[in-house]
Amino acid sequence: MSYANEYSSSIDTPEHFWGDKASALPWFVPPTTILSKDENNMDRWFADGVLNTCYMAVDHHVQSGRGDQAAIIYDSPVTNTKSQLTYSQLQTQVAAFAGALRDKGVEKGDRVIIYMPMIPEAAIAMLAVARLGAIHSVVFGGFAPAELAVRIDDATPKVIVTASCGVEIAKVIPYKPLVDEAINLASHSPDSVIMFQRDTLPAELHHERDCDWNDVISAATPAEPVPVNGTDPLYILYTSGTTGAPKGVMRDNGGHAVAMHYSMAAIYDNQPGDVFWAASDVGWVVGHSYIVYAPLLAGCTTIMYEGKPVRTPDAGGFWRMVEEYQVKTLFAAPTAFRAIKKEDPDGLLINDYDISCLNNIFMAGERLDPPTYDWTVEKTGKPVIDHWWQTETGWAICGNMLGIEKVPVKAGSATLPISGFNVCILDESGAELPAGSQGAIAIKCPLPPSCLPSIWGNFERFESAYLTEFPGYYSTGDGGYIDEDGYVFIMGRTDDVINIAGHRLSTGEMEEVVAQHPAVAECAVIGVKDSLKGQLPVGMVILKDGQDITDADLHQDIKKALVANIGPIACFKDTLIVPRLPKTRSGKILRKILRNMADGQAYTVPSTIDDPACLDEMHGLMQSRNWI
Ligand code: COA
Ligand code: AMP
Repeated sequence: MSYANEYSSSIDTPEHFWGDKASALPWFVPPTTILSKDENNMDRWFADGVLNTCYMAVDHHVQSGRGDQAAIIYDSPVTNTKSQLTYSQLQTQVAAFAGALRDKGVEKGDRVIIYMPMIPEAAIAMLAVARLGAIHSVVFGGFAPAELAVRIDDATPKVIVTASCGVEIAKVIPYKPLVDEAINLASHSPDSVIMFQRDTLPAELHHERDCDWNDVISAATPAEPVPVNGTDPLYILYTSGTTGAPKGVMRDNGGHAVAMHYSMAAIYDNQPGDVFWAASDVGWVVGHSYIVYAPLLAGCTTIMYEGKPVRTPDAGGFWRMVEEYQVKTLFAAPTAFRAIKKEDPDGLLINDYDISCLNNIFMAGERLDPPTYDWTVEKTGKPVIDHWWQTETGWAICGNMLGIEKVPVKAGSATLPISGFNVCILDESGAELPAGSQGAIAIKCPLPPSCLPSIWGNFERFESAYLTEFPGYYSTGDGGYIDEDGYVFIMGRTDDVINIAGHRLSTGEMEEVVAQHPAVAECAVIGVKDSLKGQLPVGMVILKDGQDITDADLHQDIKKALVANIGPIACFKDTLIVPRLPKTRSGKILRKILRNMADGQAYTVPSTIDDPACLDEMHGLMQSRNWI
């Protein structure tokens, strides 16, 4: 099968194509309706299919003879712990925890928030929620209580599952006070908080809603998988948008299972029994898709790594893992390789390990800059595959489909559209642009399986954020171009989203926090390039009249506020007090121009600009701070 045939059949005959892919999975009732419309007139996949994602990912493999194969390998250099769970053991633990959740009142359609570090219990909790036909929402452990509170109010969970602490390189983070604070901040209160106690730092369970993971399991009867429809939601994952409130991206069961399963062979060229390692965190979409669901749906062995690419204990951590667990495919963010390169520029630590088992290194989450690509190829001798995707899609939109046909790589390009993604470049009026022209990247509807059908509880927001700008298309929020050979080049976001060390954050949300400082009248937060983390946020601030504070003091205050409101991952780099900001005559700050200026990209000066000279001033200021 050639890539061209595979791709064109997915676009020309999507129902036939995806119906065929769906038949590779063990449904309780296979779907006969492949593509249909829902009450919002959105395209939906496999509406009449009946399944249980946990059954497909766990029980099915036990029934078909994989019970003794490792399902999850846990390796935690930060706690010096290693362990493995076979598919049979995983089934026992997931069924037991699902029983415990059911005892706490969790039923099909109920929400459960999971706020946990990278331990196997996080995956067990996710799968247990899925087993009950309930909906999980995993919140990344690096988010502050205020962020958790927003998610509690939006998802209104019956139960929160957490652990007593997270362990970062040199610090232990007690989670219990964070969860308690979040519940205090939120209007909604969960009925129960289930705590997994870690030896590193157990938590005191003092509230009547608190219960211990082991206690609830020992009191429970194992739960069987609950059948759900293809379009029933599996999870909500909050992601940064352009405004302060994060968007609850919804994922349904059927389309997700089909896309995940298909991708493991078609994109990653993995077969059942292979070891697949996504060095991400379960709190991000990569963790949902490629630490938990896809490898397990495909009968592979997955790895949960509670460590960093560097300093746990050194920049050889990734290579040690590859050798020790015979990893066939490694998937991580470019920032991880930049960190390794910084500490081991000649790649000497790679030679300490036998990484011959490794077939490919996949990267995503942010732009793969050519120096990082070149370094990784040169030092590892392995093919490096860039692929572009988003929380909203749940899997790659563009990439090199190694299991179908490996096509030549072009540095700087995320390669070709993946099956089902009809990728187009549009101008501002929505007209399709020819090869080589840069514009907004949009995907012609219908979106393939696994892509979001809505924002949790807010279809209007979904419509206005993604479908209104270009009718008939999904707006990705990224800009770029397609060359004469059909290769897609992603040039960066066209909105207020930035990527810091592979973590997606909103500058709009940061502005809301900065604006709360008593000295601040107006502000603009933008991302500037960083050689390690890709981008870092900086602030340009106009003070209120009569305020007397230095840049440095204001910066310390703002940093503290951002850690408290968003989390330590915000990594605010610098604050600059400015006399004015570029604005339209109606007073709107021209953030897009500032963003493009910081990014070294061309920008058009609108005729409505109040004072064009202000732009030169901004440029000079950015240079003076070494932002550009
Ligand atoms: N829980 C609590 N705190 C966390 C956290 C978590 N899960 N993750 C990060 N933090 C904290 C860190 O401890 C750090 O705190 P500090 O400023 O008080 O020291 C802060 O958030 C910033 O963390 P990070 O951006 O991760 O910086 P780092 O210097 O510790 O590590 C990298 C740099 C590049 C090694 C690391 O960011 C990395 O591995 N990134 C890849 C991320 C990734 O895989 N993303 C998924 C996309 S596929
Ligand atoms: P997230 O939803 O956290 O996965 O972030 C999605 C955003 O990350 C995309 O909209 C892009 O801006 C960026 N991104 C992800 N992968 C790539 C890639 N391979 N190349 C360039 N940008 C990427």
